[in-house]
Amino acid sequence: MDERDERNEALAVEPADDFYGPDIFTEPDGDPDTLANLGPLAPMAGVWESAGGADVHPVEEGSEQNAFVERYELQPIDRQTNGPQLFYGLRYHTHIVKPGEVETFHDQVGYWLWEPATGTVTLTLGIPRGQVLLAGGTAEPDATEFEVHAAVGSEVYGILSNPFLDQKFRTLSYRMHVTIHPDDTWSYEEEGILDIPGRDEPFSHIDQNTLRRVAPPTPNPLAGATPPAGSLGIGSLRSESRIRP
Ligand code: HEM
Repeated sequence: MDERDERNEALAVEPADDFYGPDIFTEPDGDPDTLANLGPLAPMAGVWESAGGADVHPVEEGSEQNAFVERYELQPIDRQTNGPQLFYGLRYHTHIVKPGEVETFHDQVGYWLWEPATGTVTLTLGIPRGQVLLAGGTAEPDATEFEVHAAVGSEVYGILSNPFLDQKFRTLSYRMHVTIHPDDTWSYEEEGILDIPGRDEPFSHIDQNTLRRVAPPTPNPLAGATPPAGSLGIGSLRSESRIRP
């Protein structure tokens, strides 16, 4: 096993090489209704808020803790295929401020994806520090807890940072644990392990929150009756011919 395989195997969420079979071009039909096919992500669809967030981040003297206020929006997208691979997903944006402040404390965009065939949850994460990552994990379709992981150097579930961050605040690994609660709330705990020059130990940058629903999700374009904002409304929204020639 070469070094690349070892890094990827460490994350242990890759299906076997031949899982998808020899035909890598034929696409499955999938279901137009994404909300009905999100597996463990289904309860997260919608708009959520909380003033109870907690952050621990690095400062020159060591670490600092802050409370934060968060608005986390997750909206279903039309199912996606990569040849035989089929994803259902949510596009998300979370915006965070300190209590009583207007200035952005943290901002993050990306997708949460569910692949029913493999029971894989994938998180894409982009933040305006000039940093992106792809994290993965496995879960049962009805799981109420799941976790995704990424590690620097992995060519599948990896982390990329701009050169300054890579040298001075190098994110070695990332994990996010999600718990769905029975009262229409959900919680996360996420941890980035940062290597900061001159420090003996890697720094654990931890954020957590419990979010309560403020609005239901808007059905994805293929499932919903309302044309997306900016659309000219031409053609049938339920027609698959627009994306399946
Ligand atoms: C609720 C979520 C988060 C909050 C509130 C938050 C907040 C902060 C704050 C306040 C700092 C200190 C530096 C500064 O003031 O600019 C910081 C540093 C940092 N954060 Fe986060 N963060 C969050 C999530 C994340 C995530 C998901 C990542 C990437 C995986 C990340 C990566 C970093 C890095 C690399 C630094 C070091 C850079 C520096 O200190 O200037 N953070 N974060």
